[in-house]
Formats: sequence, C-alpha cells, structure tokens
Amino acid sequence: MTEEARPGSVEPGREASLERNRGAAQRIVRHHGRLLAGLEERSLELAAAPEAGWSDARRALLAYVDEEILPHARGEETTLYRRAAELPGLALLVHSLRLEHLRIGELREAVGRAVPPVEAASLARALLELFRLHAEKENVYVVAALADDGATDLESLLGELHERSRPDGRVLDVRHLPPAERHRLIFATWEGLAPGDSFLLVNDHDPVPLYYQLSAERPGRFTWDVVEAGPTVWRVRLGRSAE
Ligand SMILES: [Fe+2]
Ligand SMILES: [Fe+2]
Repeated sequence: MTEEARPGSVEPGREASLERNRGAAQRIVRHHGRLLAGLEERSLELAAAPEAGWSDARRALLAYVDEEILPHARGEETTLYRRAAELPGLALLVHSLRLEHLRIGELREAVGRAVPPVEAASLARALLELFRLHAEKENVYVVAALADDGATDLESLLGELHERSRPDGRVLDVRHLPPAERHRLIFATWEGLAPGDSFLLVNDHDPVPLYYQLSAERPGRFTWDVVEAGPTVWRVRLGRSAE
C-alpha cells in the first residue's frame, strides 16, 4: 500500500524549507524598513536644512538613493521579481513594481535638478512616499507569496539579491569595526587601489583625522570627496591620484 500524505499534513522537508523562507522573508522586510528609515531621515533633513546647508542635504539624499535604494531595486528585479512573476496572479503586480522603480529613478533625477530648495524638498517627499507604498506592496504581496511558495528557495534568492545589490564601485563600510581596525583596513584598501581608482568610505563619525593623516603621510597622492557629512553617517570617496 502506498503512503499518502494526510490532508493538511506537511512533509518534514517541506516544513523546514518553509521555515527558512519565513526567516528570509523577515530579513527582507527588515531591510525594507531600514531603507525607508534612511530615506525618511535624509528627506526630513533636506526639508529642515537652512538656506546655507540645503545643497549638502540634497547631496546626501541623492547619494543614499544612488548607493542604497537604486542598487536594491536593480538587484530585486533579477531575483525576487523574476521568481514572483512566475507565481499565479503576480505578473501584473510585478510589472507595476518595475514601473515604480523607473519612477523612483525619475524622481531622483528631478530632486537633483530642482532649483529652489522648497521644490527639491517636496520632490524628495514625493519620492519618500512612493518608496513607502512600494516597499509595503513588496512586503505584503511579493515577499509573503514567495515565502509561502514551497517551490521557492527564498534564502538563496536573498543571497543573490545581496550579491546583485552592490552599488557601482567599491564601498568600504567601517561602522561596525573597532577604531584601530578601521584605520588599518582603510589604509590597506587605499594602498591596494590602482592610480585613478577610488572607493566609497562609510563611517559613523567625521573621518577628518584620516584626511590629516593622509595629507601628512601621502601628500598629493590621494583624492578626497565628501559625499555626505553627518550627522549620523559620513561618506567620503577616497581615491589614489592618477599618476
Ligand atoms: Fe522595489
Ligand atoms: Fe525592495
């Protein structure tokens, strides 16, 4: 007599894979929450920036969209979206989410072009609200459907998403390292650059002591472009001068 699964029962292997999917789904939802909080913080800073500081606040917001939001969007189109579009009833939704990615990119360009600060701030607000609704739709419909689908390995899709969400160029985020370790790693990364090459340094305090150290030890051999100057994150494009 052949064994048949009782109605409602789940094979042990399938249960374990659904459990893994649920864990991956939670990580994706948390990541969306962090992206949204980061965008909201910079959008509020732009709206509240004094006349003298608004272009720095705009630069910080644009850098965040370029380095976090858009790479994430590109990454999910070839991973989560591709798989979700194969699930029953999700193809049209995935299509509209792709259109929203395009609209997010267009709004980013519009924020970059806006001339009066108030115009830039209101476009940034529109971008934020679009992203808020967009991420919510992804969480509620796409991520949940992928997690519940026994034939989907969400864990490995998430790994691929991370792999493909790297922004263009190298990023060295030292925020989670002890201070002594940070300097060693930053110098080692800089030493490894080819002439004319650069990387984006991300830190949780102003890296200006590093600037003075490089000026003293490697005068004229490095480039230093501040992309975002606080108050919580500092981003500097650090390069090796072309020889
Ligand atoms: Fe998206
Ligand atoms: Fe997303």
